[in-house]
Amino acid sequence: MITFDRRLFLAATAGSLVAARAAAQRREGSAFADTGPVNPLVRQRADAQIFLHDDGWYYMTGSVPEYDRLVLRRARTLAELSTAPERILWRHQASGPMSGFLWAPELHLIDGKWIMYFAAGPSGGGEDVFRIRTYAVVCDGPDPMRETWSVLGKFQTPWDGFNLDSTVFTHRGTRYFCWAEREPGIDTNSNLYLAPLASPLTLAAKPARLTVPTLDWEVHGFKVAEAPAVLARNGRLFLTYSASATDARYCLGMLTCPDDADIMNPANWTKSQEPVFTSSSVTGVYGPGHNSFTMDEHGRDILVYHGRDYAAIEGDPLFDPNRHTRVQRIYYRGDGTPDFGIPVGNGPLPDRLVPAFGPQGFLMHGGDRVRIGNGAITASQFRAVPGRAGGGSEMLVPIDAPDHCLAAGEDGQVRLAPIADTPDFQARAGFVRDTGGDGEVRFALADRLDQYLQHRGESVMVGALGAAGIAGATFRIR
Ligand code: AHR
Repeated sequence: MITFDRRLFLAATAGSLVAARAAAQRREGSAFADTGPVNPLVRQRADAQIFLHDDGWYYMTGSVPEYDRLVLRRARTLAELSTAPERILWRHQASGPMSGFLWAPELHLIDGKWIMYFAAGPSGGGEDVFRIRTYAVVCDGPDPMRETWSVLGKFQTPWDGFNLDSTVFTHRGTRYFCWAEREPGIDTNSNLYLAPLASPLTLAAKPARLTVPTLDWEVHGFKVAEAPAVLARNGRLFLTYSASATDARYCLGMLTCPDDADIMNPANWTKSQEPVFTSSSVTGVYGPGHNSFTMDEHGRDILVYHGRDYAAIEGDPLFDPNRHTRVQRIYYRGDGTPDFGIPVGNGPLPDRLVPAFGPQGFLMHGGDRVRIGNGAITASQFRAVPGRAGGGSEMLVPIDAPDHCLAAGEDGQVRLAPIADTPDFQARAGFVRDTGGDGEVRFALADRLDQYLQHRGESVMVGALGAAGIAGATFRIR
């Protein structure tokens, strides 16, 4: 039986293959990562919910700066949500309890009916506008982008207090409602509650109070636990929520519960004592929060959230319109818990690269040292940035050192170096990406296509193919 040695085949065809592709990519100027989402994904849409429905469409809704209407868009890919047409489903009323702010809509398909939950208040002015309660509108047909929508009613909570940011999820065959509410007798803006639903707007049991904001990072400006979102992975429910005022101190917290425990028992939920996602002055994203979860076209878990490009806000943050929708990949630690890292910043999503054949570990940096290893995900997230030498080359820029990139030294070793526009530097740091099948990717120097980014053990270098052939220069994107 002839055994097909993939590595030999790769070695034999590599040079011509990459050279041909590189020439084509130069012509098309498409040497960069595939055209995935670019952050910010959608400008001025806060509290975004994106979900991939089984009809193959990504649906997205969110709060608009005017808080006066419910909107919906859909696209076949996450990236196309950026430019997808947006439909106004319903506008706030001329008077009454739903004539003021409309906040944080969420779209759900419940028993075959499209229902959009949202928080609304009256338009009376003064503090009355914050008499916010949860309502729902319902679509009268199968296509939420085309049929008409009408008021379904008001969510019935035991206290009829300030309540908002509801979400719906099904766990072990039961449909649950999770929301934020101010409870009489508890001195906070909002706490998180959970209960099974009897109908879309009524509860089947007394709510369980899952968390009250008490930690320092939860009570900056306001004592807030809001915007719950549920991710069921690795035998647990991870319930993220947003805390503190909606300025740069806004951040994500997380509760964790084993998926075989009684989720209505607050004692089964463990609160992370530190925030799990916060502002980053390195990547320039502030006040990240009000998240939801979805999946990209490759089946990778995606964190959806909003964040601003600046920290300083004039006036009430609630009326600063620049909370943009952003997305990024979720990674998991060895114990199965999600590691959200830091907000990745504006531009195409960064990639994490692992050797396709060989050592376990990620291409990562530590200071100016570059190696194959493991550690904080932030040190292994590299964004493709257009090379300064033009010609469709790209630089591999770590998100946590945006003015540096991977560059080959005189000795061929790859290090992290300050980006320079000189032809010499670009000749050592400008790569052409060759994406093969099965998520494989290779990087050849744009000026010398026989010189590859490659690994040998922990070491990372640029040079002609070594004994490992093209296999030593083949990575996979994570
Ligand atoms: O964006 C409007 C409201 O502000 C959202 O409902 C809430 O999550 C945030 O505090």
